[in-house]
Amino acid sequence: MHEYQHQPLRLPNRKRRNRDIWLGLIIIFLVLQPVSYLMFDRSNPPVRSEPDWPLASPEVKRLAVEACFDCHSNETRWPWYSALFPVSWLVWVDVDGGRAAGNFSEWDTHPLETDEIAEVLTSGRMPPDSYTIMHPDAKLTDAQKQILIDGLDQIAGRESGEDEREDEHESEDREDGHEDE
Ligand code: HEC
Repeated sequence: MHEYQHQPLRLPNRKRRNRDIWLGLIIIFLVLQPVSYLMFDRSNPPVRSEPDWPLASPEVKRLAVEACFDCHSNETRWPWYSALFPVSWLVWVDVDGGRAAGNFSEWDTHPLETDEIAEVLTSGRMPPDSYTIMHPDAKLTDAQKQILIDGLDQIAGRESGEDEREDEHESEDREDGHEDE
């Protein structure tokens, strides 16, 4: 009998504590909204310089826009939920880091390296899984990856001058191809 008498006395307390925790979280959440709005800049700077897209098939740009531009360009599509803390923070980390790694809108000063593009695409590191969960269209098939790799390679090769001809299939043998600079 005793057990049953204790419980009704304890529950309201625990409920109140739970309620206080939830209230606290909601208040923190609300206070952080404007703070995160100021801290995690969601602006799109002007497009300054792009790869010479016409040097490759139109599919190459289409794939890059669909799968890479949200983080590696100044034409980020910011979904409404990217304004909400803590999503705002996670998205900002991706876009800020992505633009720093290479930016399709500032290609003259911040290009992505061709061999690194091939590496991250074949290993599946890019686009990140955390992104393709929310953007399934950005998930590339092997054939699409190859189109993107070859296309960007082609653009890079032609941009840097005709004299650097490809060493046919030699690169396939070099798995650890990181040359020191
Ligand atoms: C959700 C954001 C996001 C998307 C989408 C995305 N990237 Fe990235 N990418 C990053 C971030 C952040 C970094 C820097 C940190 C790192 O290397 O993980 C990066 C780094 C890179 C690098 C540098 C490699 C290295 O070793 O650091 C390459 C190359 C790259 N991305 C290519 C691509 C390509 C190609 C696409 C499209 C198919 C793409 N990324 C899509 C966020 C993204």
